[in-house]
Amino acid sequence: MIKNKRLNFIASLIDKNTNILLDIGTDHGYLIKKAFDNGKIRKAIATDINELPLNNAKNNLTNYNVEFILTDGFKGVKSEFDLVVIAGMGGNLIANILKDAPNNNDIKYILQANNKNDKLRRFLSANNFKITNEHIINDKHYYVILEVVRGEMVLNNEDYYLGPILKTKKESITYYKHLYKWYNTIIQKNGLTEGEIVLKANILLNHIETNKGKK
Ligand SMILES: C[S@@+](CC[C@H](N)C(=O)[O-])C[C@H]1O[C@@H](n2cnc3c(N)ncnc32)[C@H](O)[C@@H]1O
Repeated sequence: MIKNKRLNFIASLIDKNTNILLDIGTDHGYLIKKAFDNGKIRKAIATDINELPLNNAKNNLTNYNVEFILTDGFKGVKSEFDLVVIAGMGGNLIANILKDAPNNNDIKYILQANNKNDKLRRFLSANNFKITNEHIINDKHYYVILEVVRGEMVLNNEDYYLGPILKTKKESITYYKHLYKWYNTIIQKNGLTEGEIVLKANILLNHIETNKGKK
């Protein structure tokens, strides 16, 4: 049993009809184990750029139908897959890995960046990816989780910073308040009056104020 709310939540998003899960940057392989144990997948491909984490995954996934590949992102992956999970990395690194993603409309993606979700959304909209859902969970830290497929998506600044779908969900307000507080501390400390962080803070504050009192 994995006591990790973030990974358990990601596993819960996996469709029952998923055939082969590609977990890029698998580390300990916990997500794959959870997906198998929940009866969600038939096979998995576990990749990691580092030998030590891949060996940890191998140890945790003996007797499971898993192909292990030591590689950077998609580069060494030759077999087919229908779901890709890239979780627990920075937004820029996830975007960089996605540059090698296949141009296949049937593949689904679950992405969980530890930071820079705005940069990741910018990359997705500029590279023929479409966000189909967004989630926020709190497991000591806030984690934003994106469900993505191939397709066109036009976003504005508010969408990049708040999330085009996340901004419609009422549970996101406490996350936005948390972010606003953090940005505002930096702004006050450095006496900032302009720049990206000021823009982000203004967008957050405007959204928080507009949604005040909404149930
Ligand atoms: C913090 S762990 C996250 C593990 C797991 N995905 C999770 O969400 O808990 C990040 C893992 O990604 C691996 N990694 C970093 N860059 C990578 C890349 N370009 N391709 C594949 N794996 C990578 C690291 O070696 C590490 O094991």
